[in-house]
Amino acid sequence: MSAAVPATEGRIHEFTTQSGVETIEVGAKLAGLLKTPQLLILKGDLGAGKTTLVKGIAQALDAADSDEVTSPTFTLLHEYDGAWEGKTVKLFHLDVYRLEGERQLETLGLDELLTPDALVLVEWGEKFKSIQKKSTGEISIVSIGGEARKITVTLKEA
Ligand SMILES: Nc1ncnc2c1ncn2[C@@H]1O[C@H](COP(=O)(O)OP(=O)(O)OP(=O)(O)O)[C@@H](O)[C@H]1O
Ligand SMILES: [Mg+2]
Repeated sequence: MSAAVPATEGRIHEFTTQSGVETIEVGAKLAGLLKTPQLLILKGDLGAGKTTLVKGIAQALDAADSDEVTSPTFTLLHEYDGAWEGKTVKLFHLDVYRLEGERQLETLGLDELLTPDALVLVEWGEKFKSIQKKSTGEISIVSIGGEARKITVTLKEA
């Protein structure tokens, strides 16, 4: 795993991983970086590693073991109780790939999820304007050949 934080842009964090296990490790590192409340869009092609990254975040927050974190493909929303440095963190993992239209999205009640202790991670969130507006940043995962991935975290607030 390699990491680079550009000196001029403190809110952008870049990582390169060579396996799913390394992406879980990056997720675990990110857990401490992502102050609540936060709503992040997880961007990347099918199978890029979005759910894999959430496994690491959940693990580091003591919210769930990595094998307990599965894709919320049909349930749309998974909720885990975690903590970071003694403070509770509500981890919400969503996948809106199958949702069509803002009206279907409304049934999820995203606004109610975003309490002060919430870390909301939305796979395919870029599909919806309303999620883009609410988001406090994004994590993009791009395949760069074989099992290698480039992970870029962009936070609106430093
Ligand atoms: N460097 C890597 N980082 C993440 N996953 C990797 C990597 N190399 C291989 N993989 C594998 O790729 C798959 C990624 O699947 P995952 O469910 O995390 O993707 P996803 O982005 O959530 O896809 P979807 O959009 O379908 O939900 C896993 O099987 C994982 O083990
Ligand atoms: Mg997924």
